Amino acid sequence: MLVAPSVLSADFGNLARDVKAICDAGCDLVHVDVMDGHFVPNMTIGPVVVSAIAKAATKPLDIHLMVENNTFFVDLFAPLKPGYISFHIEEEKNPHRLVQYIRSLGIKPAVVLNPHTPAEAIEYLLLDLDMVLVMSVNPGFGGQKFIPTVVEKIQRLDALRKKINPNCLIEIDGGVTSQNIELLRDAGVDVCVAGSYVFKHESYETAIANLHV
Ligand code: DX5
Ligand code: ZN
Repeated sequence: MLVAPSVLSADFGNLARDVKAICDAGCDLVHVDVMDGHFVPNMTIGPVVVSAIAKAATKPLDIHLMVENNTFFVDLFAPLKPGYISFHIEEEKNPHRLVQYIRSLGIKPAVVLNPHTPAEAIEYLLLDLDMVLVMSVNPGFGGQKFIPTVVEKIQRLDALRKKINPNCLIEIDGGVTSQNIELLRDAGVDVCVAGSYVFKHESYETAIANLHV
């Protein structure tokens, strides 16, 4: 299991310090939540702050777009050379084109499924994806409760990707803790995002190690 702490739960007054600390504590990716106040009822950070995160990080960025105008935001963040950019399938009229566009920029493309969106929605995109991000909370806020029905969705997605593109990773985001991580691994998850679990823990190193199952 790869671990991607979500900096949404970091101390924004000490952002560079916290980003360095999770990287030193052994995380694999740095998950960055970008919200525009339209697609989700919350706003977070733009390219100025994300570039400060990129400077402090020693691990690749995993940028999760929760926005209405995906291509505009892809163009804003591409110069920071993130490892992954993910966008919501619910908000994109031409997802296949956007996947190819992200790849053409040298960034790994990923697509996100909201809790109500079935695994089959991305069946014909799977071949072109590096990762699928399954939301296990409704996007917009950290610290929400895990929605258990996503476990079945991950199992279905795991079967689909084994058939179509076994190299495509499955990532989970929302309400991940040491309590549910083994269940998620067994269902087929390869990468976990964890915000409040990591940043509220007294030791980032222990929290990340607990998720490295
Ligand atoms: C929610 C974000 C998540 C969030 C996860 O919209 O996509 O990345 O920060 O936070 P926790 O792990 O606290 O549920
Ligand atoms: Zn996220």
